[in-house]
Amino acid sequence: MADTKFSKVDFSKYFQPPSLKDARRRRREAVQIINDFSIPEDMNTIGKGKNYLIETYGCQMNEHDTEVMAGILEEIGYTETKEATDADVILLNTCAIRENAENKVFGHIGHLKTLKLERPGLILGVCGCMAQEEVVINKILAKHPQVDLIFGTHNIHRLPQLLKEALFGKEMVVEVWSKEGDIVENLPQARRGHFQAWVNIMYGCDKFCTYCIVPYTRGKERSRHPEEIIQEVRELARKGYKEITLLGQNVNAYGKDLPDMENYGLGNLMDEMRKIGIPRVRFTTSHPKDFDDHLIEVLGKGGNLCEHIHLPVQSGSSDVLKIMGRGYTRERYLDLFHKIKDTVPNASFTTDIIVGFPNETDEQFEETMSLVRECQFDGAFTFIYSPRAGTPAARMKDNIPMEVKKERLQRLNTLIDELSAKSNAKYQDQVVEVLVEGESRKNSEVLSGHTRTNKVVNFRGPKSLIGQLVKVKVTDAKTWSLDGEWQKEAEAANL
Ligand code: SAH
Ligand code: SF4
Ligand code: F3S
Repeated sequence: MADTKFSKVDFSKYFQPPSLKDARRRRREAVQIINDFSIPEDMNTIGKGKNYLIETYGCQMNEHDTEVMAGILEEIGYTETKEATDADVILLNTCAIRENAENKVFGHIGHLKTLKLERPGLILGVCGCMAQEEVVINKILAKHPQVDLIFGTHNIHRLPQLLKEALFGKEMVVEVWSKEGDIVENLPQARRGHFQAWVNIMYGCDKFCTYCIVPYTRGKERSRHPEEIIQEVRELARKGYKEITLLGQNVNAYGKDLPDMENYGLGNLMDEMRKIGIPRVRFTTSHPKDFDDHLIEVLGKGGNLCEHIHLPVQSGSSDVLKIMGRGYTRERYLDLFHKIKDTVPNASFTTDIIVGFPNETDEQFEETMSLVRECQFDGAFTFIYSPRAGTPAARMKDNIPMEVKKERLQRLNTLIDELSAKSNAKYQDQVVEVLVEGESRKNSEVLSGHTRTNKVVNFRGPKSLIGQLVKVKVTDAKTWSLDGEWQKEAEAANL
């Protein structure tokens, strides 16, 4: 049935297809702060007695966007369900960073077709970064008429209006703005955690690394006003949250775009965070180019600022970094790395690495291996380069066979495992502070959490510890996690 409804429609009348070319533009116009989130009157209680399910792919930014969409849906009466078969609205919050991320989503959209036939009233929506791509929209239009609603990353605050159109209209609703982006404040948020929270400090990215789709899907760099952020974090502290993570695609560019705040940067904001009574503050993701001395100095003061730095390097070869458009050399990265290491005692470091960038030679890959050895990273996310349509790197001729890339990735991963085990071994017999996040995934008898340096710790203890900061003595340092014993006495002594 959905197919016939679909085939009658001339979509060109209804929507402007998204355009990566438009999304690439950066003008000098001031960022609009939008405060006018609204719910149409007839939508106020539309979700009463109905369920929603949001499936999230991709980065923390998407995870947090999901919390906002959940907040909006709950405000109009919907209740969360974990079962697709119980859902009246299913949203797929998608990621476009690599081809396999996209394939996973298309596979899932395919599966949902059966469910849609069983539950014709079900609203099936696709949002997030993939929705910003014209090729994706065209593929959905051509092959997946079971989708009712597509909206982009700049259209989240319009969810009540779009859902209304999807519920009461006859056509597939598509609204994707290919624009630089605004800042929408005061949106509802249904936070998933009760003691850990994400706080957006900025949106978008202007770095345009030649392989990356994010600047096209998320718009330009735009910072929230520090007062808005401080207020949100204070409120979280008041509610008893123990840990916050400040979020942005390139958090080190924070503040650059703020009018009338010439020299205000991430260092200043982190200094403000130190004054707030919240035990742990993290931030992600850093870009080495914009990581300045003031921030290093502030991180060196410690306090509630956690000593874990995620500092993506991407490659150890200055020549590859240049073609990637990263804006730093191997030497500059290493200088920065050592400066942070010297100033922030006991800091742990993690990174992101792309293997097999077009025409990467064996020698260039070896430079990545040697940089990783020099930095002795605690962990790394490693990826095989994936061409993204519309980005400059996707137009480069690539003479490196996939087999070679896979082999390199394997060698790199073996080294990363070795280094992770080595860095964990340093924790043997030490007492560490752990924020207890819940039961371990593998064994419900065991509790699991992270150290300030972001190491996973598993130990036995009562469930009442969940959400608390506790002391644990490491008894067995493994490759990717630490096993330990809860120091009950140390806890009692602290009381
Ligand atoms: N803003 C962050 C991370 C963005 S995406 C940063 O700049 O570090 C997370 C990681 O995905 C990147 O660090 C990069 O390692 C990887 N990535 C991005 N585009 C990719 C592509 N086209 N192919 C493979 N990996 C990619
Ligand atoms: Fe992508 Fe580079 Fe921006 Fe990170 S800094 S989001 S890798 S363009
Ligand atoms: Fe993916 Fe978009 Fe994040 S492309 S990594 S979900 S910003």
